[in-house]
Amino acid sequence: MARKFFVGGNWKCNGTTEEVKKIVTTLNEAEVPSEDVVEVVVSPPFVFLTFVKSLLRSDFHVAAQNCWVRKGGAFTGEIRYRFIICSFFTAHDFDLLSVVYLAVNFMFFSLNSAEMLVNLSIPWVIIGHSERRALLNESNEFVGDKVAYALSQGLKVIACIGETLEERESGSTMAVVAAQTKAIAGKVTNWDNVVLAYEPVWAIGTGKVATPAQAQEVHCELRKWLHENVGGDIAASTRIIYGGSVNGANCKELAAQPDVDGFLVGGASLKPEFVDIIKAAT
Ligand code: G3P
Repeated sequence: MARKFFVGGNWKCNGTTEEVKKIVTTLNEAEVPSEDVVEVVVSPPFVFLTFVKSLLRSDFHVAAQNCWVRKGGAFTGEIRYRFIICSFFTAHDFDLLSVVYLAVNFMFFSLNSAEMLVNLSIPWVIIGHSERRALLNESNEFVGDKVAYALSQGLKVIACIGETLEERESGSTMAVVAAQTKAIAGKVTNWDNVVLAYEPVWAIGTGKVATPAQAQEVHCELRKWLHENVGGDIAASTRIIYGGSVNGANCKELAAQPDVDGFLVGGASLKPEFVDIIKAAT
C-alpha cells in the first residue's frame, strides 16, 4: 500500500516574528512535490501558530506542539511555562529561582486545549515528544490519554515514541517503543488521523542521526507490532516517520528505507535545507 510521505517541522521553542516570516517566505517560495506526494506540516511555538497559519501556503499545514489532556479551563497559561522550558534547554544552567518558578508552574501550568486548536482551525498536534516525556515526566499512559482526547476533538496527531541511549545500549529498544506504542494504540479510535514518529532520544539535537539500517529496523518492527496488535490494514497504511538529526544530507538515504514514511525534523526545519528534506519524498 502506498503511504503518502509526511514531513513535519518541529520548530520547538524558537523564533521571533522576523525569523518566522523569513522561514515562511522560504517555504512559500519553495518548489516541492505536490500535496498528493508529500504532506508537509510545520509546528511553530504556540504563540506563532495563527500567525504562521495566516501566512503559510495552502498546501502546507500547521501543528501545535502539544495540547492538554482534557477540556481546557481555569488553568494558568502554558506559554509562560514553555518559556521556562526553553530557557532550561538553552541555558542548561538555570538558577534556583527558575527551578522554584518551574516547580510552581508544574502545579498551575496548562496547555493549549484541543478545543482551542480546533477553534483556530489548527489540524495537527504533536503529542508525546521525548522532551516532554523527560522534562515533564509524561508517562506512556498520560500520552495515550492525550492522544485519545486530541482525536476525540477531531485533531490529527503526530504521536512520538523513542528510546534513550541507555535503553538502546541495554538492548531494550523494541521493548520500550512497543510499550510506548501500546499505550497510544490502545486509545486510538481513528488511525487515519495518526502518524507515528519514531525519534530515538539519543539522535535528537545531537547530530548523531540513526543509520538508515537502524531506522529501518525499528520502523519495520513497529509495523510488525501494529500488524500483530492492531491489524494488517492499519499496519500497512499507518505512516511511521523518523526524527532525530535529519538534515538535507542524510534525508535521501533514510527516505529510501521501505518503512520510513517521512520525517519529524527539528533543527533543520528552521533552515532552508528543510526544503531539501521535503523533496526527499520523490
Ligand atoms: O521532533 C523532532 C525533533 O525532536 C528532532 O530534532 O533537531 O534532532 O532534528 P532534531
